[in-house]
Amino acid sequence: MLSIDLQGKRALIGGASRGIGRACAEVLARAGAQLVLLSRNQEELQALKKSLPRANEHHILATDLSKAEESSQALQNLLDKQGLELHIWVNNSGGPAPGAAHSAPVEAYRQAFEQHLVASQMILKVVLPSMRRQQYGRIINIISTSVREPIPNLGVSNTIRAAVANWAKTLSRELAPWGITVNNILPGFTQTERLEQIIQKRAEQEGCPTEEIAQQMIAQVPAGRFARPEEVAYAVAFLASPLASYINGVHLAVDGGRLHSA
Ligand SMILES: NC(=O)c1ccc[n+]([C@@H]2O[C@H](COP(=O)([O-])OP(=O)(O)OC[C@H]3O[C@@H](n4cnc5c(N)ncnc54)[C@H](OP(=O)(O)O)[C@@H]3O)[C@@H](O)[C@H]2O)c1
Repeated sequence: MLSIDLQGKRALIGGASRGIGRACAEVLARAGAQLVLLSRNQEELQALKKSLPRANEHHILATDLSKAEESSQALQNLLDKQGLELHIWVNNSGGPAPGAAHSAPVEAYRQAFEQHLVASQMILKVVLPSMRRQQYGRIINIISTSVREPIPNLGVSNTIRAAVANWAKTLSRELAPWGITVNNILPGFTQTERLEQIIQKRAEQEGCPTEEIAQQMIAQVPAGRFARPEEVAYAVAFLASPLASYINGVHLAVDGGRLHSA
């Protein structure tokens, strides 16, 4: 029987403590991968590690990606200390705060650039040497459907995701000769704390109950519901696997059919 087999593969998972990142950790561990779990909250990472299959194989790294240099150095130190090589990187963290583009403070753009693009480039420099040595690399960026259709009231996010998407597309062509692929997952509305915050903020702005906002959002989705985080993680596991060796430089929307563009 054909299945997704990540035994012998080691994966760095960003934003692993909650939401989509956590689901990726759970699914990739079930597929046999050994994990490095990264986010800011050490206790949550420790609890997650304990809950995973083969808990003792995994490592945690509590670090703040908005301090890109510190984070990449901490990752390098962990890899050196433990003698770890990486094959897979799920590039994920928290999204910028919702709000209009025109009224966002300039500092919000600087901070998002640091956390999403500068940190990505710095982490890339840490993970790339092992991927090249292994002649196997899977870089999977969790970004947003906004790279196809900007989402109202997510001004900073819409802007920074486009930069990450073009960074990824450029890399996909550069790194292919080493057996490294670079792809983007575009999650649709996915049931996580991030989605709850977005719904809450809109409900406050529009002065209506959160349930009404949630129903308005669901009405945009042909599937008629929000995604479960593991539905995004299954797509990540496939792209991380040897089965996806010839898929490179794509945007894969996991959005229940919400996007209107092809
Ligand atoms: N949920 C959706 O509907 C949806 C839709 C489209 C795109 N997305 C995007 O997909 C990504 C994941 O979304 P999600 O819904 O899973 O978000 P979430 O529930 O808010 O989880 C975010 C994760 O990232 C970690 N994190 C946040 N800031 C960090 C930082 N500065 N450094 C290191 N780790 C950090 C958080 O853990 P700690 O607090 O422990 O650091 C947490 O594990 C985000 O970029 C989001 O914008 C989500």
